[in-house]
Amino acid sequence: MAEEMRILMRNYGKIDPLNIDDYISAGGYKGLEKARAMSQKDLMAEVQKSGLRGRGGAGFNAGMKWSFSYNTPSDQKYVVCNADEGEPGTYKDRLIMENDPQSVLEGMAVCGYAIGSNKGYIYCRGEYPYVVEKLNTAIEQAKAKGVLGDFDIEVRMGAGAYVCGEESALIESIEGHRGEPRFKPPFPPVTGLWGKPTIVNNVETFANIPLILEKGADWFAGIGAKSYPGTKLMTLTGDVVNCTFIEVPTDTTIRQVIFDFGGGIAGGKKFKAVQIGGTSGGFIPESLLDTAIDFDSMAAIGATLGSGAVFVMDESRDMVDVINQITKFFEHESCGKCSPCREGTKRMHEMVKNIYSGRGTAADLDLLNRLGTVMSKACLCGLGQAAPSPVLTTLQHFKTDYTAKFN
Ligand SMILES: Cc1cc2nc3c(=O)[nH]c(=O)nc-3n(C[C@H](O)[C@H](O)[C@H](O)COP(=O)(O)O)c2cc1C
Repeated sequence: MAEEMRILMRNYGKIDPLNIDDYISAGGYKGLEKARAMSQKDLMAEVQKSGLRGRGGAGFNAGMKWSFSYNTPSDQKYVVCNADEGEPGTYKDRLIMENDPQSVLEGMAVCGYAIGSNKGYIYCRGEYPYVVEKLNTAIEQAKAKGVLGDFDIEVRMGAGAYVCGEESALIESIEGHRGEPRFKPPFPPVTGLWGKPTIVNNVETFANIPLILEKGADWFAGIGAKSYPGTKLMTLTGDVVNCTFIEVPTDTTIRQVIFDFGGGIAGGKKFKAVQIGGTSGGFIPESLLDTAIDFDSMAAIGATLGSGAVFVMDESRDMVDVINQITKFFEHESCGKCSPCREGTKRMHEMVKNIYSGRGTAADLDLLNRLGTVMSKACLCGLGQAAPSPVLTTLQHFKTDYTAKFN
């Protein structure tokens, strides 16, 4: 395997994650100390200058997001860590929380200081009860040590809904309501949890913060792709030799991820396709493998970096079979609040199922294309907007898999 660049995972296997003294000995909480010696404005400017963009999927500049909450006067503000990690094939946030939980707490406390918040929540997926235990231990230790100051952190558990990873549905869920997305604007940094300014950032985003402060914005900005600097944790699954996680600079290409780090295709077979970013990611053919994994390069080829999940498929895979499973997933996970998604995901799965079972026609492919395009524009939240992307990209790059099903 090629050599990784471990920034986020610098403590992996080196410290006892449940011993805060180990974290502190390894340089932990120096970033927070440095942050508190800065003015809130200078701190946000430093984070903004580092170029750190969200690692949860939308790729928004973290420092800029924080400044929106800072600039909104309120008696209470919140910091929320999105640890819902509902994307199939993704386990990078679990890795961080299990192996270096204090780095997440430190990143959240820095954000709290920056925006003027004394309350943080970690919204962790319900399927990770053992992670919740570890987080609670880490929080207790941080409180006992007094490193968080007056910043309090609580863990809230999700109950298995994919849509609750969407930030406004997540906020609804923490408030005790049914997990459904809100109409935006207003966006959470201005009107979030209980109507108060709220920063929602992903686990990996927060975990990047301590080292950015310790080593400086310029250091971070110099790593990887210029427009999306730093490293990215990727989780490799499917027909690849090394089904594992890797941390690589963001200018690494997809080909390097699969072949240099992933060890290539398992069983001596040939590559067919890769889906990056989770279930809603676009499918990428061989001809586009030299694209860098950074957010903008991926967007330029109609794909996404998303959560960083890498699902590799060999030549034996039938794309219609894969898409049949994916559209079933979205039909099941649509919360039903808006009709383009509620109806669209259902009809989309229906059509794909028909094609898969040999009852489809060429007209279905046109209709799928039209439906997908409408959904990507008309759905209320990212779930329905992105759900058509696997369908649209396989129609674009692997159309013969569909036409081969026609009788
Ligand atoms: C259906 C759906 C599921 C999502 N799931 C997650 C998730 O599990 N974790 C996450 O961090 N962001 C998820 N997001 C993105 C969040 O809405 C939000 O953009 C993110 O938490 C912001 O943090 P960041 O700026 O650090 O990336 C999801 C979005 C959608 C539309």
